[in-house]
Amino acid sequence: MQVVTGDMLEVACFLVPNSFRLIYLDPPFLTQRKQTGSKAGLAYDDKWEGELDSYLPWLEERLKKLYPLLMDNGSLVLHLDWRVSHYARVMLDQIFGRKNFMNEIIWHYTGGGRSKSRFSCKHDTLLWYAKGDKPVFNIDAVRVPYKETSGYAKAGIVAASGKKYRPNPQGTPIDDVWDIPIINPMSKERIGYPTQKPIVLLERIIAALSNETELVGDFCCGSGTTLAAAKNLNRKWFGCDISKDATECARLRLK
Ligand SMILES: C[S@@+](CC[C@H](N)C(=O)[O-])C[C@H]1O[C@@H](n2cnc3c(N)ncnc32)[C@H](O)[C@@H]1O
Repeated sequence: MQVVTGDMLEVACFLVPNSFRLIYLDPPFLTQRKQTGSKAGLAYDDKWEGELDSYLPWLEERLKKLYPLLMDNGSLVLHLDWRVSHYARVMLDQIFGRKNFMNEIIWHYTGGGRSKSRFSCKHDTLLWYAKGDKPVFNIDAVRVPYKETSGYAKAGIVAASGKKYRPNPQGTPIDDVWDIPIINPMSKERIGYPTQKPIVLLERIIAALSNETELVGDFCCGSGTTLAAAKNLNRKWFGCDISKDATECARLRLK
């Protein structure tokens, strides 16, 4: 288990092909600003001269480099937002093959400011692609309780035909829209790294798309959320980030 400082493009050259069950990638989103965290000094640059014309080739080159690192039937989850997720999806269709698109997961969150000129943007998009047609999918590991209003929350449901559907004691399977709050500013979980993702989001992805002891990688690991989640779930993990501040944060967090 390791955290390495460097550009993922170069780091990927030193890694064993076909070794990762799951790669999660949360790159800069083309926000065209410096992203600063709540802790002094923690920041990363997300300004792109040439905008899409420089960002998209940058991303494509790196995705192509990461693809061979996935084992057969391994999965990639690429985390973006409205700015580039539609371009990235076309890119991933080309790299993985359209038939290996698995899900577009919407992470919906609340909190923060509200727009007065349009609907507030309160979701990110996570694109799941598989390298093969039989990716790991542990749906039972990520079931959630039935809503109180659901018939299943009580005795179950009886169809018009008379057939009975009983509730699963583990809850209901989740769909592709996930309501998970952003990290509360007062929460102990907050490291102070900019755009840190909630650990429950990563735990859900890792529990669903990998098995215990398998290798999970994050090549834009930032504060190390994916690595901490993988450790909690008894997976092997590998992290990389171009920023030394990020990898130091991640190392501290994993101690
Ligand atoms: C959105 S943040 C990741 C946040 C992380 N998921 C967390 O929960 O803390 C994006 C990260 O990508 C890193 N990054 C940018 N370019 C990179 C590159 N070429 N190779 C590796 N990491 C890079 C940045 O330093 C930044 O830490």
